[in-house]
Amino acid sequence: MKFRDAIEKRCDVKRFDLKKPNWRKVVRAVDAARFSSSAGNHFAVRFILVTDESAIDKISKSCQQDFISGSKCVVVAVSDPSSLIRSYGDRATKYCELQAGAAIQNFLLGLENEGLVTSWVWYYVDEEVKRILDIPEGASVQGIFPIGGKTKVSGKAKRNAKLENVLFFGKYGERKMRPKTEVTRDSV
Ligand SMILES: Cc1cc2nc3c(=O)[nH]c(=O)nc-3n(C[C@H](O)[C@H](O)[C@H](O)COP(=O)(O)O)c2cc1C
Repeated sequence: MKFRDAIEKRCDVKRFDLKKPNWRKVVRAVDAARFSSSAGNHFAVRFILVTDESAIDKISKSCQQDFISGSKCVVVAVSDPSSLIRSYGDRATKYCELQAGAAIQNFLLGLENEGLVTSWVWYYVDEEVKRILDIPEGASVQGIFPIGGKTKVSGKAKRNAKLENVLFFGKYGERKMRPKTEVTRDSV
């Protein structure tokens, strides 16, 4: 799949086919996450691949989002600042969260490239998910991803932010790119 196609086609999907996705594809998507940017080159994000139905059911309950239990494969992204604290002190947790976002985007594009779909779920009872998956105390869950194959209803019309609202030139809020030198009648 071409780079730009993966970016534009990726979208949040909560209705996927109920077959178990090929775990090798999911592993390849996680592999893509490793190539994301990380503060000080300490990659502090971990991905847990969960296929046990009872664990998926418990995770789904802790998120209070039923569609999760329809998935046969759930990935949970976890950030662990312990290796960053020595270098970055108070900033480690923030760095870890930013890093997790970058890693997760690679993972999402990796899934898209493999023809799989998911939804980034961030609403859950943190302590419960940590208990179900034995996640260490200092680590944080950065997203729960129920994964499935595409169906006919998987895609949806996307409302993406407009470029003119996203890109400023020179200063915050400046929507026009000013030429380096103003051309006037006199300067010609
Ligand atoms: C940080 C974050 C938290 C999210 N939490 C949830 C969630 O708890 N439940 C859910 O159904 N979707 C959740 N989503 C998915 C968004 O609702 C979805 O990405 C959004 O509608 C944009 O759609 P798109 O991903 O197709 O561009 C979350 C997305 C992000 C980035």
